[in-house]
Amino acid sequence: MEKMDLINEINRLKIEKNAVIMAHYYQRKEIQDIADCIGDSLALAQWAAKTDADIIVLCGVHFMGETAKILSPNKKVLVPDVAAGCSLADSCKAAEFAEFIRKNPGHKVISYVNTTAEVKALTDVVVTSTNARQIVESFPEDEKIIFGPDRNLGNYINSVTGRNMLLWNGACHVHEQFSVRKIEKLKEVYPDAKVLVHPECKGSVVSLADKVGSTAALLKFAVNSDSNVFIVATESGILHEMQKQAPEKTFIPAPPEDSSCALNDCNYMKMNTLEKVYNALKNETPEIIIDKELSEKAVKPIARMLEISEKLGL
Ligand code: 13P
Ligand code: SF4
Repeated sequence: MEKMDLINEINRLKIEKNAVIMAHYYQRKEIQDIADCIGDSLALAQWAAKTDADIIVLCGVHFMGETAKILSPNKKVLVPDVAAGCSLADSCKAAEFAEFIRKNPGHKVISYVNTTAEVKALTDVVVTSTNARQIVESFPEDEKIIFGPDRNLGNYINSVTGRNMLLWNGACHVHEQFSVRKIEKLKEVYPDAKVLVHPECKGSVVSLADKVGSTAALLKFAVNSDSNVFIVATESGILHEMQKQAPEKTFIPAPPEDSSCALNDCNYMKMNTLEKVYNALKNETPEIIIDKELSEKAVKPIARMLEISEKLGL
């Protein structure tokens, strides 16, 4: 089907089925352009909890679909390509994480949203990159905390809060690859450029940042900043919304160390296509299904995150 026909059909099916399309900033441009809501992981969870649509088409990766389903168990949640995983979530298997918790008794467990439902079920409170700092700070200073699975985000939060959380040794393959050397070279060409860095990047890259934050925070900073040039060290899908909201500004994707790999794209995020969105809506599949008992355990730390975020106005 031609692109315009696909878009028309998606819009028709959306109305017919009372469906809503939610997309993460890392999705392909053409998916961002047809989405009803586009946001970061926290915003997607907040929308999923509140929507009155019957069907949520979650254009993101599997854990985002799971989170939406856990928050809205009576709705049908579709992820256009259900094989869209996440290397960070994969780096933390529930059985191993449970063993880690068992070996370190007396700790509260904070997990990044980039985890499976099974890992969330082992967790006291979930965080995203938007609220991780504030949620960690909401615990007493002497609270012993296990933080998983992202060691880079954990190290960053430790450094800004002065905490000493025990970290799971996981990472995202996209954010790990940004190169200090190449960002410094770019800064020689664009000395006035501001460097925007997602906290999943290595500490050496974070140390170059003018702004460290979630995708939503980086977007807001870029739009409101007096600067006109930005080097962006996160998945390149965010550049689409940045360019849309600030068309007069220049956004340069930070290069990976290995130039032979195409761009800083998340291959999982890019698995969803317009065609797959159309098929998902038409066939109402692939659907995210979660065992009821697991869902009832996993919802508690996510609901706790949403409550704290609401109190904090996030
Ligand atoms: P955000 O919390 O910024 O949406 O990050 C999600 C993610 O997958 C980063 O790799
Ligand atoms: Fe996971 Fe990294 Fe892709 Fe985000 S960018 S979904 S953390 S693999």
